[in-house]
Amino acid sequence: MHEGAANQPLRKVRVELGDRSYDVQIGAHASGLCGQVARARLGAACRKALVVVDDKLPASAFERVMGALRTEQIEASRFDAHASEHDKSLVALDRVLVELTRRRLERRDVVIALGGGVIGDLAGFAAAVYRRGIPFIQCPTTLLSMVDASVGGKTGVNIDLGGNGADLKKNMIGAFHQPIGVLADTLMLSSLDERHYRAGLAECVKHGMLGADFRDPMLLEWTRANRTAIVRRDVAVLAEFIERNVAIKARVVAGDEREESEGTGGRALLNLGHTFGHAIEALPGVRSVLADGTTLPGEIHHGEAVALGLRAACACAAALGTASADYAGKIGALLDTLALPVKAAGLPPTDVILERMSHDKKNVGGVTRLILPCGEARGTVVPSPAADAVRGAIETLRA
Ligand SMILES: NC(=O)c1ccc[n+]([C@@H]2O[C@H](COP(=O)([O-])OP(=O)(O)OC[C@H]3O[C@@H](n4cnc5c(N)ncnc54)[C@H](O)[C@@H]3O)[C@@H](O)[C@H]2O)c1
Repeated sequence: MHEGAANQPLRKVRVELGDRSYDVQIGAHASGLCGQVARARLGAACRKALVVVDDKLPASAFERVMGALRTEQIEASRFDAHASEHDKSLVALDRVLVELTRRRLERRDVVIALGGGVIGDLAGFAAAVYRRGIPFIQCPTTLLSMVDASVGGKTGVNIDLGGNGADLKKNMIGAFHQPIGVLADTLMLSSLDERHYRAGLAECVKHGMLGADFRDPMLLEWTRANRTAIVRRDVAVLAEFIERNVAIKARVVAGDEREESEGTGGRALLNLGHTFGHAIEALPGVRSVLADGTTLPGEIHHGEAVALGLRAACACAAALGTASADYAGKIGALLDTLALPVKAAGLPPTDVILERMSHDKKNVGGVTRLILPCGEARGTVVPSPAADAVRGAIETLRA
């Protein structure tokens, strides 16, 4: 990232939710506002904060937040958490709740989530259930959590059915609990590794594919035109990129806070690519494969699964005729230039993946429904897609 970042004014996106509305502030040093946000929203009664911090962050990230809380005379303590899907658990939740109780935080005190989506979901859920709900602030530190996970109030943890990580049910327990503010500090991204940064780009492509549904029809084209600068993390484009992506998420959330719209749109559209993606994510032995044939080590990251899900959704849409093969090709080419996976190695038989898709939380009445692209930069809900098209789409992912 370039030094000039520090001189740019912060950008602001409002999430309109009546008395639960809040601002997402974006730019260099945004996390330094957390004391002010807590004070402005909670008044003098806010005396303590628990900062749940990703244990991989550099010390400077934590110090920036601590300094901001100190300035407002908020007594802050630190709780280190490990960001993995295995650790996004009831056990970790219990530890955070014990710490909140030990530190005697009260109803006007605040939890700060300083980390990526795992920490945000965990700390947010702890804030949602501790004393039946206390305020929290999101300080997202990954691109994915800046443009997606930190906005909208979904919090929660996974369930480990087998007890050994082999059958992890993602986000099975949780609550809607809106933060009182989101501070997307672009300086945080300097320490994020390349693979996680790119994984976040998948959610941004998804937003672009829904741009026309949420008042930014040119976002996809803009992303394509600026792809080289985006990959370079050029600050001049990064702030606008994050702002436009957050604005899409904010509009979706404002229109359908609790994902209650069925049928034609609303928050359900954000699930574009996710039903396929979730079915292959967290499957032991499944690996991401890039266009040049490289197999990435370790588990598929969430954003990588989303990228594969977007490819499958495009293939399915082309087979069903809701989008053209040309459009599918265009999206595929964009995902390629962002170095997102094209295939998955080690996939189980298609029936197993179909079975997993049928358990997707977003299904209604036990019927698999898919969100698919329909035309340029639009998505649509397909309530019961033809099985052949879905099977064919899964097959396109097989390495
Ligand atoms: N609540 C929602 O609406 C929502 C939406 C999308 C995803 N999610 C959840 O978000 C999670 C994925 O989030 P993520 O992609 O941010 O991953 P993550 O939180 O697992 O972070 C990715 C990795 O980067 C490290 N890291 C984070 N910030 C860093 C930084 N600035 N510098 C160096 N290392 C850093 C973490 O320790 C971790 O190893 C999933 O659990 C997913 O279910 C939630």
